[in-house]
Amino acid sequence: MKFFIDTANLEQIKEAQALGVLDGVTTNPSLMAKEGISGEANINEHYRAICEIVSGDVSAEVISQDFEGMIKEGEKLAKLHHQITVKIPVIKEGIKAIKYLSSKNIKTNCTLVFSPGQALLAAKAGATYVSPFIGRLDDITSDGVELIRNIVKIYHFYGFETQVLAASIRHTQHIMHCADAGADVITAPLNAILGLLKHPLTTIGLEKFMDDHNRNL
Ligand code: G3P
Repeated sequence: MKFFIDTANLEQIKEAQALGVLDGVTTNPSLMAKEGISGEANINEHYRAICEIVSGDVSAEVISQDFEGMIKEGEKLAKLHHQITVKIPVIKEGIKAIKYLSSKNIKTNCTLVFSPGQALLAAKAGATYVSPFIGRLDDITSDGVELIRNIVKIYHFYGFETQVLAASIRHTQHIMHCADAGADVITAPLNAILGLLKHPLTTIGLEKFMDDHNRNL
């Protein structure tokens, strides 16, 4: 399972990269705004900076919602760096754009996916990744992890190569549930990833080892 970090914060991306287990980064317009990055030139510069930190795929989302605008933006973004994956919403024009960009060998991430039907169309269009938003489904008392399980099943059944990238992950337990559901990739905030390390017996055990060692000095 690949681990992506879901942020545009360079310090957090560096910290995750330093762990040695990071496979990529996902961003979206809200995450860019949270870092105060605005204007095309600054946004593009920020994507390049992220690509310099990590070695894997970096999702950069288009703003346009029409086919022509999306492919123009997508081609520009892809030219910024070979690690850029063009993130496109699962709307009618988006599916057309994914089909077009994948035919040009440009990597795509189909985003804002909330149903197996949307994921099926994304795979048919040749998306590199599909991003079901599990936290936002949980928010409305729908089962986000169950959506991951359904999409994984459908993709395996038909041999689609599109990777299931579980997004809108809010906490550590989401990551483990996505692992159990067969997600190819999870994208999560840094604290959710670091949460995997937490266990009281590890803390207690380490303290005892150190106490015993120091007493023996
Ligand atoms: O990867 C998508 C993610 O950024 C959305 O997360 O927490 O806004 O639902 P959230």
